[in-house]
Amino acid sequence: MKNFKEIQANDFNQSIFPMFEKDWALIATEAGQKANAMTASCGGIGVLYPYGPVAFIFVRPQRYTQELIQQSDTFSLNFFSPSYHDILAYFGKVSGRDEDKIKKSNLTLQHTIDTPYFEEANTVFVCKKVYVQQLTGEGFLDASVPEKGFPENDFHYMYIGKIEKVLLSD
Ligand SMILES: Cc1cc2nc3c(=O)[nH]c(=O)nc-3n(C[C@H](O)[C@H](O)[C@H](O)COP(=O)(O)O)c2cc1C
Repeated sequence: MKNFKEIQANDFNQSIFPMFEKDWALIATEAGQKANAMTASCGGIGVLYPYGPVAFIFVRPQRYTQELIQQSDTFSLNFFSPSYHDILAYFGKVSGRDEDKIKKSNLTLQHTIDTPYFEEANTVFVCKKVYVQQLTGEGFLDASVPEKGFPENDFHYMYIGKIEKVLLSD
């Protein structure tokens, strides 16, 4: 099993922008015996009273991940080296409702504080859900955005997770 180094969330000093936008993340979650992961390029990390360091993600209602994360207390955000890009593209195209993506990808699932994460990741944020809200059409100040971006009213659920652990590896 690979050795990760655990650091304090406030000691994390990489830019999160290319990590989400360019490299993408896998959001991993589990409910009951079912673990699943999906690719995400939307999200961020920051600070929120009274929790301190948090991560936030945006998941559309039709995702299997949304169904599982709704039933789970935790999720992890996993970032990988660019050599895993094809695997992340697969996790972003196929639904866990149709295939066991984790098994097919040959990624190695590990658990910490009852939360699934991937051994092949180089950066993992383990998060405890603290806030959830679905975005609304009225919330967008530019009305053309919901019309164009969400024609089926499938607004993202925003999940905010208190960062419980940050794991780093080479
Ligand atoms: C690069 C990339 C980024 C994505 N980002 C998001 C995202 O932030 N939120 C979201 O709901 N879907 C996003 N998706 C789509 C999901 O990853 C995709 O629908 C996936 O198949 C859902 O899997 P699931 O049904 O197993 O949860 C993204 C897809 C790709 C390829």
